Amino acid sequence: MERILALKEERNAVILAHNYQIPAIQDVADYVGDSLGLARKAQEFDAERIVFCGVYFMAETAAILNPDRKVLIPDPDAGCSLVQTITAEDVRRWKAEHPGAVAVGYVNTTAETKAELDYCCTSSNAVAVVESIDPDTEILFLPDMFLGSWVKNVTGRENMHIWAGECHVHAAIRPETIAAAIEAHPGADLLVHPECGCSSNCLYLSSTGQLKAETHILSTSGMINYAEKSPHDTFLVATEVGILHQLETRAPDKKFVPVSTDAVCEYMKMITTEKLLASLEQDQHRVIVPDEIAERARLAIERMIAIG
Ligand code: 13P
Ligand code: SF4
Repeated sequence: MERILALKEERNAVILAHNYQIPAIQDVADYVGDSLGLARKAQEFDAERIVFCGVYFMAETAAILNPDRKVLIPDPDAGCSLVQTITAEDVRRWKAEHPGAVAVGYVNTTAETKAELDYCCTSSNAVAVVESIDPDTEILFLPDMFLGSWVKNVTGRENMHIWAGECHVHAAIRPETIAAAIEAHPGADLLVHPECGCSSNCLYLSSTGQLKAETHILSTSGMINYAEKSPHDTFLVATEVGILHQLETRAPDKKFVPVSTDAVCEYMKMITTEKLLASLEQDQHRVIVPDEIAERARLAIERMIAIG
């Protein structure tokens, strides 16, 4: 850890980490946050190098927003199952089937896919992005179906088509998982990530009073901000378990219970302190997005940064 901190200074680097990273990476980072916070922060620091501790699509987004800086990722194989559910060609075909529609893509997509989008969004501003679009315009929302259905329910937007993609970690968090957790921890607040396979069900049950827990559907940083301010002391957490470290660090007097200890993203865990050290020592692995792709993807990403 000392070597990482010393090299970071020497190399004029900043370390950004997602809330799902292992605790040691979170502790050494200059900033820990959700996808939107990380994209915004990447632009705020003026360091020569950005070492991105997260998955590849996040580092690509930082590279697109910071073409004059070196963006490094400690392991370029850190992928994402959701990203793999759609290609740029799929988006082109889908758009051709719906002329005049606006394509809104979750940030969990490749740079090539983003180049086909009109707007990018993250879980923390997806509702605001959709609400910013003319209500008479058809929307193609991709790639996460659980996030898409939740946004459709919250906004009441009928003219929204949703791609049938999912993240294997969040899709496995089912309504039964939530019901069992509430049963075991009566009185606890429930924090649910909108990518979860239960998010629309939770929204519906909580609006009809059938869910016996105060429920909040939030992005990862949304959960942390909520828990810090809440007067309550126990929270059921429905997302990837890496967030528990950040929750416990930021709200040390409160209790956090994962609804599923199996909710582990193996891609996020591919970033280790050894690989982070090697990345700083050897200036590797540089994330390069071809100019032609970056140019086309930038507008959708900049719209995402500006909204919400
Ligand atoms: P947020 O950090 O934007 O909530 O996204 C969660 C996620 O799964 C990113 O991979
Ligand atoms: Fe992708 Fe899911 Fe892992 Fe997030 S948690 S990086 S969406 S596989």
